[in-house]
Amino acid sequence: MLTEDLKVSLLKDLDRIVRADAQELETLRVAMLGKSGSITTALKSLGSMEPEARKEAGAEINRIKALITDALTARKAVLDEAALNARLEAERIDVSQPPRPELAGAIHPISRTMEELAAIFGAMGFEIKEGPDIENDWNAFSALNIPGHHPARAMMDTFYVNAKLNERPALLRPHTSSVQIRTMLAQEPPIRIIVPGRTFRSDHDATHSPMFHQTEGLVIGKDITLGHLKGCLIDFLRAFFDAPDLPVRFRASYFPFTEPSMEVDIGWNRKTGEIGKGGDWLEILGSGMVHPNVLANCGIDPREYQGFAFGVGIERITMLKHGIADLRLFYESDVRWLRHYGFSALAPAMLHEGF
Ligand code: DAH
Repeated sequence: MLTEDLKVSLLKDLDRIVRADAQELETLRVAMLGKSGSITTALKSLGSMEPEARKEAGAEINRIKALITDALTARKAVLDEAALNARLEAERIDVSQPPRPELAGAIHPISRTMEELAAIFGAMGFEIKEGPDIENDWNAFSALNIPGHHPARAMMDTFYVNAKLNERPALLRPHTSSVQIRTMLAQEPPIRIIVPGRTFRSDHDATHSPMFHQTEGLVIGKDITLGHLKGCLIDFLRAFFDAPDLPVRFRASYFPFTEPSMEVDIGWNRKTGEIGKGGDWLEILGSGMVHPNVLANCGIDPREYQGFAFGVGIERITMLKHGIADLRLFYESDVRWLRHYGFSALAPAMLHEGF
């Protein structure tokens, strides 16, 4: 039975709920609704009552229980919001604070090389293009004159994505060459672009990572020749390695998307790793005259236009330039390594003396 005393005390509690702090609210909840709380006990006592009286008392207790429950919930919401606001206020970060030099970040060597590529090729009139990391197999292979059965598709150990892109199998691009296709489809010659970006292959050791970076280069015009290719790449390599007399050698090779194709080597010393000195040759990039089939695949008439292309591994040239032995270090985010190999954001990449 709900005695008058209990009713009065519950109504008083209702008043306390409205003012309670979090701790008191919990104490009140347990005192009323807990296992041996006043409301729980009153509900239990219904069992021993006559049916008529039980009906009446039951309705009353439940009405009061609902009132109390609502009040507890409402108060809890108010307290939670106040607590959240207090936390937000306490944890606010003042972004206008001046940086602490000892905590300042550095430009990652990969980013630095990309900036240098932009500076060097920018001075030669190249535009920077980007393409998506997820490509379809037409842009990445077929349009580049790499037929379906060609071992290059397997040789590159491509990561295929379980999806279609423009109704063709999707994949993580294994080279930036796909952006040659996208660009030639989108714009008329003359074209002069470099394409720095991420590339992906199923490879992992000291000199290979499943995610790495390349830059593609593409020049298309009416009278572009092998001479332009050679001049452009010699200038680039001498500027990048800051070595005006860097020996550069062009060696016949094969790529499906160029004809003729050439691998480019630079002079170095195999023992000391010194670039530009010593009698050894080091392969550094792939290049060639764009294959007529590639031009035709992009709707460009190969009798009217021709051009050259090249592909450079960004990690590779960065490792050589800065004497970094293991490519995996690029991605470990070790602050000590970054502090040593990183570049100041206040010293932007500029054209080098050799250029
Ligand atoms: N796509 C080639 C690779 O990833 C690199 C390459 C070679 C790009 C020759 C070119 C080129 O544009 O002409 O190994």
